[in-house]
Amino acid sequence: MFTIAHMTDPHLPMAGASLAELFSKRILGWLSWTLRRRRSHRGPVLEAVMADIAACKPHHIALSGDLVNISTSAEFAAARAWLKAHAAPRDLTFVPGNHDCYTAGAESAGLRTLSPWMGGKTDQALPAFPRLRYMRNIALISLNSAYPAPWREASGRLGEKQLAALAEMLPACAAKGLCRIVMLHHPPMESLATSPRKALKDAAALMDILRRHGAEIVLYGHNHRWAHVPVRTVSGTMHILSAPSASMAPGGHKPPGGWQLLGITRRQGTWEITVTRRQLQGRKGTMRTMAEWTLTSKDAPAS
Ligand SMILES: [Fe+2]
Repeated sequence: MFTIAHMTDPHLPMAGASLAELFSKRILGWLSWTLRRRRSHRGPVLEAVMADIAACKPHHIALSGDLVNISTSAEFAAARAWLKAHAAPRDLTFVPGNHDCYTAGAESAGLRTLSPWMGGKTDQALPAFPRLRYMRNIALISLNSAYPAPWREASGRLGEKQLAALAEMLPACAAKGLCRIVMLHHPPMESLATSPRKALKDAAALMDILRRHGAEIVLYGHNHRWAHVPVRTVSGTMHILSAPSASMAPGGHKPPGGWQLLGITRRQGTWEITVTRRQLQGRKGTMRTMAEWTLTSKDAPAS
């Protein structure tokens, strides 16, 4: 069995912003963090989640975006130090979220220094997406849905080039007998978006490719909620999965910090995926299993 810990949206505590950096769309995000979000995303919750993941010793960690909040230089320096402290680039795959690409200056502000965890060879430039990582009989395909969205938007987009490359990768990986896991930050289906201004603009084109070429698992973040949606594809049932923000404090209207462990096994020509949802429980903040069940690529499809 190959095990993957899926975590998302850690939103590390705000590490600072210069006046020049705030003279942009970042001012909205800074106000939102200062007035509201800093009470929701708590460092100790995130560290409880990370300690729980470490105790489970997964083979790999999949992190589906939003490490930072408004893409400042200080935030990216803190994010790089945080990644370094928790996992070597070979053990963790990160895809950017909308908060990691908050403005057009995000890449030069430091997003590119996180490239080694995105499968890039150097920290001087962002790698080209999609990225493909082979791990035993698993193909982890990373998509980058983050772009500097207009003011008051948290939308995503993939673009024709990424989608065309994905359409070639999926059948090639299937021909090699690999379990295909696709990861992106935004929800891949329009119906999973919480509002049009937070949606993936080319979700319909993405779903069309996934249905036509097949994939076994899709991991996403952005909504800060648990989700499991089975979808019919040419090669069986694809399972779309999401998890809460890894730093969400208890007591709010969204689920507290959690993550999910995927245990993937090939059995009699089909893929078996055991999903274990782990979440912070109670005032003392103990991590507990909320649900555990096994999916297969031959499950009765729902759509
Ligand atoms: Fe997001």
